Amino acid sequence: MMKELRIKNILTGLFASALCVGLSMALYPDSVNVASRSSGLQGCRATTTSVRFRTLTMRGPKSMVTYRRLTISANDLAFATTASNNIAASDVVQCARMSALANMTAFAFDGTCMAYQFNRKLCSCLGGEKVIYVANSSISYGPPATVPFSTAPYINTTVEGIEFRQYRLVNFFSDVFSQVLKSFDVNALNIYEDYYLFPREGGGYNAAQSVYLDLASCVTDVPCGVPVLISTTRPTYYILNECGKTIQLSPQNEGDQILVYSHPGFGCKAFPDGPTYNCNVTFTTPTTLGLGYFGYFSGADGSCDGYTLGLETSGSSNILDLCTAANGWLDPLNQPLTITLRGTAAAKTFKAGFTVTMVLASA
Ligand SMILES: *[C@@H]1O[C@H](CO)[C@@H](O)[C@H](O)[C@H]1NC(C)=O
Ligand SMILES: *[C@@H]1O[C@H](CO)[C@@H](O)[C@H](O)[C@H]1NC(C)=O
Ligand SMILES: *[C@@H]1O[C@H](CO)[C@@H](O)[C@H](O)[C@H]1NC(C)=O
Ligand SMILES: *[C@@H]1O[C@H](CO)[C@@H](O)[C@H](O)[C@H]1NC(C)=O
Repeated sequence: MMKELRIKNILTGLFASALCVGLSMALYPDSVNVASRSSGLQGCRATTTSVRFRTLTMRGPKSMVTYRRLTISANDLAFATTASNNIAASDVVQCARMSALANMTAFAFDGTCMAYQFNRKLCSCLGGEKVIYVANSSISYGPPATVPFSTAPYINTTVEGIEFRQYRLVNFFSDVFSQVLKSFDVNALNIYEDYYLFPREGGGYNAAQSVYLDLASCVTDVPCGVPVLISTTRPTYYILNECGKTIQLSPQNEGDQILVYSHPGFGCKAFPDGPTYNCNVTFTTPTTLGLGYFGYFSGADGSCDGYTLGLETSGSSNILDLCTAANGWLDPLNQPLTITLRGTAAAKTFKAGFTVTMVLASA
């Protein structure tokens, strides 16, 4: 990061950009546009506005550094910082200038000036109580990348006496799934193992059932992801990419749930419209299967954009057209059960995907 923060030739101007709300007008010599931030779970909705320090000139070996104002939590700042030093500066402009000259990645000024170096680029969509200014070259503007679940960092945490792990998600389709988010109430969620918790802005949690998120394909190791809390157990699940296979579900306890996600990353990544799907996956058990379907696959017109998506049991084809079916539960069905997806996306409209939940019923 240090190498990227070059200050070339005579510094003719030092610019800082501002993100989000809460600027103190007095600190900024030029225009200040206050950004709006819509509420919701997703962290990246703030719009960027600029604050410019026009008049600064600096004698030095480098030219110009653009800083952006970010907010960050104290934890995330500590997580990212590899070095920090106190700089003697009487105002934010001087603080900016001194940290730029010292090749530091970022600075904060709250009466005293602190400069920071980071071990990686910071995401542009962090949030938190601390205000820092980060060199533009040390900010990552792309979406965060996923990492394997086994290597994803987490924090142990406790909510209402229940142990959870907090991971970070690359995204969560909170708009699509807003109807399924409930307010977390430990008494109401009698099977909290089945739920993921999303911290709400302003306190408290929303809870969504695990059927709405293929968590293992959505976690990231960067701190700007959407925080999610999970209890230590996760459901058994399959992904509808084992085309042509028959999966024997081994006998388990009555009432156990087995999930099938339409694609890796259901809940955080859109369904990838491939060239042509001709996929079926069959499930068999020694017992009958109750079945739930939750689909965010069809467009506003109710069609599946060129696909057919259905459910078949042995001996009867397409007992349920999942493109037109309402989300809900079916009575226990004979099995084998086959989920079929065929066709080609016509308009490539946004599709969050779908899940099928199978519940082992009595023999
Ligand atoms: C900053 O980095 C430049 C080269 O990248 C180097 O020449 C200069 O000495 C560094 N300044 C400080 C204060 O470390
Ligand atoms: C900030 O960085 C991004 C990507 O690294 C670049 O596209 C953009 O032009 C930079 N903005 C300024 C003002 O330097
Ligand atoms: C979380 O807690 C478990 C059990 O107490 C422990 O084994 C694990 O190392 C902890 N992980 C972290 C990242 O603190
Ligand atoms: C499932 O796919 C296989 C291989 O493509 C095919 O032989 C079989 O007939 C299909 N079954 C159903 C129920 O569509």
